[in-house]
Amino acid sequence: MSTERDRRTIETETLYDLLYRRRDVRGEFTGAPVPDAVLHRVLAAAHAAPSVGLSQPWDFVVVTDLATRRAFAAHVQRERAVFTESLDAARAARFAPIRIDGVLASSLSLVVTYDPARGAPAVLGRHAIADTGLYSVCLAVQNLWLAATAEGLGVGWVSFYREPFVRDLLAIPAGIRPVAWLCLGPVTALRELPDLERHGWARRRPLADVLHRERWQARPETEAETQAEAETQTQP
Ligand SMILES: Cc1cc2nc3c(=O)[nH]c(=O)nc-3n(C[C@H](O)[C@H](O)[C@H](O)COP(=O)(O)O)c2cc1C
Repeated sequence: MSTERDRRTIETETLYDLLYRRRDVRGEFTGAPVPDAVLHRVLAAAHAAPSVGLSQPWDFVVVTDLATRRAFAAHVQRERAVFTESLDAARAARFAPIRIDGVLASSLSLVVTYDPARGAPAVLGRHAIADTGLYSVCLAVQNLWLAATAEGLGVGWVSFYREPFVRDLLAIPAGIRPVAWLCLGPVTALRELPDLERHGWARRRPLADVLHRERWQARPETEAETQAEAETQTQP
């Protein structure tokens, strides 16, 4: 019989394993269907996220229609071209082989929106920081992402879009913001390394580089590096 301590150890290990296994997926979707019960569990997990003032300011639009996904995928390609234009030749060459979405390869899309009017005007905790509403939506996305990973599914966040385009495409009312277009579905496998690291586009920083104790500590070399990176990404 397992003891309470064993149980906690197993739970902790499982949670950390899940956190580190989660990946942003573009190229590994199989396109196999997602059972309704699984989709429901993943959405319920998202809906259980913390939110400022318990406003739950999110909605989820499930998009399976191929014509809608094709229209979005074409828009993403146009925005890819816009981004490519902003890069210098070396950076553009590095970007060229990197996939930025799995909209048509995945089983379905989930669009997560933010409604700032929900629970307003007196949203408890939002009076000084309006962005807390958006933060709440991002936490719902993270819950969704982790639940999907636990269910053996992949998720890919696509942000190469203009909000008005997605609003029009999905008949989202004015004032409600499409925060995330997520591709979802079974995958062949989750890669060990993030795609952007694998392609040499960016690399994860060690925790020590972003950790401050008691007060903010400037780290000139890190800041210089960030600046250099930013400069290579944007033309003057
Ligand atoms: C807000 C947000 C927007 C993102 N947009 C895109 C995107 O448009 N296309 C893409 O390929 N990846 C996108 N990603 C995925 C990131 O590139 C990815 O999370 C990062 O490289 C780390 O990889 P990992 O999620 O596998 O750990 C996005 C991630 C976040 C959090």
